[in-house]
Amino acid sequence: MNNKMISFIEKMPKAELHLHIEGSLEPELKFRLAERNNLKLPYKNEEEMRAAYKFDDLPSFLAVYYEGMSVLITEEDFYDLTMAYLKKAKSQNVLYSEIFFDPQAHTSRGISFGTVIRGIRQAQIDGEKELGIKTQLIMCFLRDMSSDSAMETLMQALPYKELIIGVGLDSNELENPPVKFKSVFERAVKEGFKITMHCDVDQKNSIDHIRQCLDDIHVDRIDHGVNSLDDESLYKEIVKRGLGLTVCPISNNYVVADYKAKEIRIKLEKGMRVTVNSDDPAYFPGYMNENLIVVQKIESLSEEQMIELQRNAFNISWLNEDEKEKYLKLLNLYNS
Ligand code: ADE
Ligand code: ZN
Repeated sequence: MNNKMISFIEKMPKAELHLHIEGSLEPELKFRLAERNNLKLPYKNEEEMRAAYKFDDLPSFLAVYYEGMSVLITEEDFYDLTMAYLKKAKSQNVLYSEIFFDPQAHTSRGISFGTVIRGIRQAQIDGEKELGIKTQLIMCFLRDMSSDSAMETLMQALPYKELIIGVGLDSNELENPPVKFKSVFERAVKEGFKITMHCDVDQKNSIDHIRQCLDDIHVDRIDHGVNSLDDESLYKEIVKRGLGLTVCPISNNYVVADYKAKEIRIKLEKGMRVTVNSDDPAYFPGYMNENLIVVQKIESLSEEQMIELQRNAFNISWLNEDEKEKYLKLLNLYNS
């Protein structure tokens, strides 16, 4: 790839729509928070910690991901975590980001919902003021926990409803289909939340799960959803509904040893509203630029196709129409 294309990608105005804030916890910050909270980590240094990041599928990644969260205790920890991501995103010209958080991964350790969301929220406010990066929050339910626990979490979130734009579903997909949470998502819609769900790559029942997202849950968006291409009626329905897909190439390469870059190109060609995102950049090393660059390189995408990925991201985002327009204008200006 030539330097001109790299620079084009780096400077392009971007939106990120699939980023787990807990997955942006870099080893350096983990050590800092552990020290502040008087916790002893089982690693001598960052290098040793990274060496222990051994995963080759979704469950083995999730084990490391949840273990890493033990250092997140206070409001200040959640603030620092979020601020570190925002600074990194800003440095890559991400202008807007929709950020996932996993409240049950914290409330199950005795950390209150309020502690988590207040810390993140303050960083969102400061990030917008100091860095000029706009963000909105998406609360995810852990699908390997019960539907009752998800409902309880939804109730805990209601006092903070104005701070959360949507709800999602993540964690281990095996034997945890979307319909397990049908009543929870129905209630979430009644409360005014947008909805999305992970349909992780190459899962046991990927196609059924994507179909349930469309027919039973009526999602506004799908996270990953790479396997929608495997079924003609499914991708045609996704195109017809104009549903967005938030794909994460470097993450895919860690969990299924394939960036799925070809699938991203095919989706673009079929008029699907596909986007590129970083997922858990501290574990699947690479933020927005690195993810975009790897896909461009593998599939030799044109500048116009790179712009299309970002146009999709702003279009399928949960910004209001005026805000979308503002960012799309900036993108058009960049492309002219
Ligand atoms: N939680 C954090 N990252 C995830 C992913 N890629 N898939 C499912 N759950 C997750
Ligand atoms: Zn994800």
